[in-house]
Amino acid sequence: KIAALDSLCAQARILPVITVRQAAHILPLADALAAGGLRTLEVTLRSSHGLTAIRTLRRERPQLCVGVGTVLDRTMLAEAEAAGAQFVVSPGCTAELLQAALESPLPLLPGAGSASDLMLGHGLGYRRFKLFPAEVCGGVAALQAFAGPFPGIRFCPTGGVRPGNLREYMAQPNVMCVGGSWMLDAEAMDRGDWASVERLTREAVALLD
Ligand code: 3PG
Repeated sequence: KIAALDSLCAQARILPVITVRQAAHILPLADALAAGGLRTLEVTLRSSHGLTAIRTLRRERPQLCVGVGTVLDRTMLAEAEAAGAQFVVSPGCTAELLQAALESPLPLLPGAGSASDLMLGHGLGYRRFKLFPAEVCGGVAALQAFAGPFPGIRFCPTGGVRPGNLREYMAQPNVMCVGGSWMLDAEAMDRGDWASVERLTREAVALLD
């Protein structure tokens, strides 16, 4: 599963964190992200549309890689798996969720914000984590500090990543990709302004080259 996460993060480079505000948004939203250059998506279970959105994307956009985010427990993991999610992201680590994901065919990128979280995951074999909330729990300085005691661990920092700090995060040797929602402005989505989602996505992707 470490290899699966490595390959999906290498392909993604930026993982857009999507909270679907209206069911009708999902396809235009995903198409705008894809047109801007992002084809690996994380659909969160923060809104009631999350599972439906995952099902819709898997059926209608099989060329995209669709993960599920904000998975908090074993039940949400099972629901996301049944909906067709291809990978799983959580904001933090619990022994219950880490264990459940070991029994699932899906790879889990667990959230971690402290050395203790990393030790909990490490003890169960996890080596790839979402640093969350990245800016709040120390940002680049935290990543550099974790590199010492955890040399085999790599991160997807998420939470406060923006165009202004994206390149600095990506330059860290223990960063494999970053996540964020800055290209998905809630007002733009409510207006159906998919061109702005596409433009912000394209601008973010251009920062990586
Ligand atoms: C998440 O929970 O992963 C965040 O909502 C993404 O963080 P951001 O909104 O600060 O980009």
